[in-house]
Amino acid sequence: MDVIEELKRYREMDIPYSRVLSSMCTTPHEIAVKAHELFINTNLGDPGIFPGTVELEKKLIEIIGDILHCKTPFGYICSGGTEANIQGIRSARNVKARKEPNIVIPMTAHFSFEKICDILRVEVRRARVDENYKVDVSEVEKLVDENTVAIVGIAGTTELGQIDPIVELSKLAEEKDIPMHVDAAFGGLVIPFMDNPYPFDFINKAVTSITIDPHKMGMATIPAGGLVFREERFLRALEVETPYLTSKMQFTLTGTRPGTGVASAYAVLKSLGYRGMKRIVDECLRNTRVLLEEMSSLGFEPVIEPVMNVVAFKTESAEEIKAELYRRRWVISTIRNPKAIRFVVMPHVTEEVIKNFIAELKRVI
Ligand SMILES: Cc1ncc(COP(=O)(O)O)c(C=O)c1O
Repeated sequence: MDVIEELKRYREMDIPYSRVLSSMCTTPHEIAVKAHELFINTNLGDPGIFPGTVELEKKLIEIIGDILHCKTPFGYICSGGTEANIQGIRSARNVKARKEPNIVIPMTAHFSFEKICDILRVEVRRARVDENYKVDVSEVEKLVDENTVAIVGIAGTTELGQIDPIVELSKLAEEKDIPMHVDAAFGGLVIPFMDNPYPFDFINKAVTSITIDPHKMGMATIPAGGLVFREERFLRALEVETPYLTSKMQFTLTGTRPGTGVASAYAVLKSLGYRGMKRIVDECLRNTRVLLEEMSSLGFEPVIEPVMNVVAFKTESAEEIKAELYRRRWVISTIRNPKAIRFVVMPHVTEEVIKNFIAELKRVI
């Protein structure tokens, strides 16, 4: 058999996005696919060979900086939110230079922080959240001490899409002179396009770094995570020497690094602009309401009123429902506390997808 035919057979085993209501990734925008193809053999790990791609990355970071209220941003496009979080904390740890460093994160933080604790040898302190699943700032204050190298806030939690009180956290960080990292891996390309956006970004004085992933709501091709710093010294704090390459120093975690994420993210943000992105975000928020209404009519209650295009519904049978749907080739996810089924209403989760899903769910419950 022709190898391409063989590959297609494997690919057909994958579940199409039109049956996936759990993922923070989506089908890339068509302009992203074109851009990806153009940059297919680029390697930003050896920048002297690809000065054009380097230049493009700088322009993209400026566009992202503009979205995040930072005039002179420093950063790069990486493999995803996990790498951006690792590097954001690594930078704060290196800048603060404490013998026994710790960071304070909300209990609702993404599991990438487990890896951070292991890799960076930084103690991770988890602060309790309130009844709305936002971190309790007074709890954060209790956990902070002279060895705290970063306070973390989340703008768009993985499980519920909630936004932490970043404004208050930033005031606390400023008062204590501690760098603040905002994990906006998901919300970073949602919140700025909402009506009356919550000020989660560099508009807050103490925010030193932000994770913002184009391969989530930015509709770029995978991999495309983003890490942005307010100050150059935080980027420099990550550098190691690279003796045999075209550059002298490297601040990234990975060595070889594709330019495809840069090109595809740039193509989407540049061609859609604020209005195009807003249209897509508005549509996702509208479809979230459609899902909420459909689920409410089946008797499901949301864990919190959805803040963005992530919503979870309480049910003791969450795991059973998820498993039965998966047998029928529909993918949803669950959360454990409280027991709930969870949905992410990405651009591919159209009203039609929701109607088809609800019809299947009715057969399951
Ligand atoms: C808030 C948040 N941070 C970080 C990540 C990790 O991103 P990635 O899977 O791209 O490494 C996720 C993934 O869902 C996330 O929701």
